[in-house]
Amino acid sequence: MENYTLSNGVQIPKIGFGTWQIPDGTEVYNSVSHALKVGYTHVDTAQIYRNEEGVGRAIADSELAREKIFLTTKIWNDKHDYELAKASIDESLEKLSVDYVDLLLIHWPNPIALREKDAWKAGNAGAWKAMEEAYKLGKVRAIGVSNFMIHHLEALFETAEIKPHVNQVLLAPGCPQEELVSFCRQHGILLEAYSPLGTGSIFDNPIAQELAQKYGKSIAQIALRWSLQKGFLPLPKSVTPKNIEDNLQIFDFELSTEDIARLDKVEGVSQQKNPDQVSF
Ligand SMILES: NC(=O)c1ccc[n+]([C@@H]2O[C@H](COP(=O)([O-])OP(=O)(O)OC[C@H]3O[C@@H](n4cnc5c(N)ncnc54)[C@H](OP(=O)(O)O)[C@@H]3O)[C@@H](O)[C@H]2O)c1
Repeated sequence: MENYTLSNGVQIPKIGFGTWQIPDGTEVYNSVSHALKVGYTHVDTAQIYRNEEGVGRAIADSELAREKIFLTTKIWNDKHDYELAKASIDESLEKLSVDYVDLLLIHWPNPIALREKDAWKAGNAGAWKAMEEAYKLGKVRAIGVSNFMIHHLEALFETAEIKPHVNQVLLAPGCPQEELVSFCRQHGILLEAYSPLGTGSIFDNPIAQELAQKYGKSIAQIALRWSLQKGFLPLPKSVTPKNIEDNLQIFDFELSTEDIARLDKVEGVSQQKNPDQVSF
């Protein structure tokens, strides 16, 4: 597995296994176990996915040593406060049965409860302080954000001692978020691509279908290769063993510059939700 290097020098595998909407228990255990068996070394979960325990069990039971696995979790919207975030980090470590996570993210920048009080900046600053402390204590190897747009990042920079190492946002064919990507790159922030298959919406896209034929690859592999060639880190989710395996086979071909540009502009694939307008 090839790696990207974060701004703090930490190596991060170029593709991660997504676990949103995979129920805790047998389903997440089997999916993550299969992913680790067939070559993934990077797993993405979150407090709100409510499957940290199953993810942790799959990691503990895998043949890979803990240090060979890159594990991410995310702080949920009801923990945007120094004390609450601090306690929730320990709770996540306990649920995951690990001594540290490799990456910890603030999941969304503007929880509705704080938005109503115009307190989102202070909420992020408080959570970030707890994350910086956890980083210094070795409970997390890197810290970052998710769903942060430029104004959320600029607000965080006002109080942050450490700049985010990662921003995890929706990046998929038809949603290249060019302005945000360019801003993050200026600040040394790696872009992780969530919903890289548009939560399934890519499969009906005629251009993706045409390119799959052209390259002799699956539609999923075309979308994931687009992500890699854009310099993103895709996080495909699957509960289907064959799909889990197929999604790793993206390091042996290259899309042309013209085809990347066509994929940039496709229509009908999921778009980034406006984090200042979500209902949670
Ligand atoms: N930070 C955030 O706010 C945020 C938000 C959304 C997602 N994420 C992260 O990003 C991950 C991925 O995003 P996502 O869950 O929205 O979905 P996604 O990975 O874009 O798409 C998943 C869908 O594609 C199907 N699929 C996967 N591989 C396939 C293949 N090779 N052929 C055919 N179908 C295939 C899956 O079905 P099967 O399961 O049946 O294969 C599922 O229906 C999440 O799991 C999560 O870790 C983060």
